[in-house]
Amino acid sequence: MLDIKNLYISFKTPEGIVKAVNNVSFNLPKNESLAIVGESGSGKTQLAYSILGLLDKNAEVKGQINYQNKNILSLNENELNKIRSKKISIIFQDPMTSLNPYMKIKKQLNEIIINHNGFTNDQATNESLRILDAVKIQDSKKTINSYPHELSGGMRQRVMIGMSIICKPEIIIADEPTTSLDVTVQSQIMDLFNDIKKEFNSSIILITHNMGIVQNICSQLMVMYGGKIMELGDTNKIFKKPLHPYTKGLLDTVPKIDEDYKKLKTIKGNPINMINPPTGCIFRTRCSNPTNECKQGTTHNALIERESHHWVDQCCVNCI
Ligand SMILES: Nc1ncnc2c1ncn2[C@@H]1O[C@H](COP(=O)(O)OP(=O)(O)OP(=O)(O)O)[C@@H](O)[C@H]1O
Ligand SMILES: [Mg+2]
Repeated sequence: MLDIKNLYISFKTPEGIVKAVNNVSFNLPKNESLAIVGESGSGKTQLAYSILGLLDKNAEVKGQINYQNKNILSLNENELNKIRSKKISIIFQDPMTSLNPYMKIKKQLNEIIINHNGFTNDQATNESLRILDAVKIQDSKKTINSYPHELSGGMRQRVMIGMSIICKPEIIIADEPTTSLDVTVQSQIMDLFNDIKKEFNSSIILITHNMGIVQNICSQLMVMYGGKIMELGDTNKIFKKPLHPYTKGLLDTVPKIDEDYKKLKTIKGNPINMINPPTGCIFRTRCSNPTNECKQGTTHNALIERESHHWVDQCCVNCI
């Protein structure tokens, strides 16, 4: 359904060129859900923005984002607007900055419905109430007449999810939808995504730092580091047998209930500078066992299919 080929995203800045996404290729089949994980700055959000044509003006994009046999990168604003919300929607990283603080929820929801479906205001209000019920907001009649600041963080996030499903899109991109929520609400929101998948047949691209929430929702997993894919494949296979040291590190950082921790585990080292990334293997400055080839910069990152539906970076797999 969505087929991304050799995608590069860079940004021109006074300090130099930020290479945010470097040669990323993957596809998302219909009714599959994909989690994208990786630490801060690894390129997750910019990858998502490129799918909806939302990159900043200083961005340069190369490659292909094929959706319904068209390259999204070659569409104009009008054509993009037909895809946004209706076919592919996004839930942004912070609901408070995405909801308009001066508008009641009713107006914000109704506007989308009227724009896309041509409903009257009354029809749109009925539909908005239905959507708030679908995202399990308990008192939808009260909520619809509230301003965003009158709602809890969890309710705001439910409203955002509601907005994203109004047009029953084929793909919902959720960018860190639970970061600012407590664990109980996090788990309710994740259950909601599972309900939406079933009810609306939507595919979900879930962007997160949190490996702990991936397995319940997404059948596919993509691990990014420094704008590149380090590991990709079936979530269960990767959880069972991670092949990349970074994936192993991410899985180790998830606290387990039966282990006694004196200190939370972390991945040693710092994120790389995206203007001057390391030569050769991008992961070598974080790797505990880099070979001479990685250090000398004679290797280049590329994926190999190590097992069926399980790809890993061909350089790093040799360092484990
Ligand atoms: N307009 C811009 N100009 C310059 N650099 C940018 C711009 N937008 C994003 N970047 C850079 O692109 C890189 C990737 O950013 P991105 O937002 O995709 O990270 P992320 O993986 O989503 O991180 P986080 O988990 O913190 O949200 C970062 O180094 C970021 O600073
Ligand atoms: Mg982000």
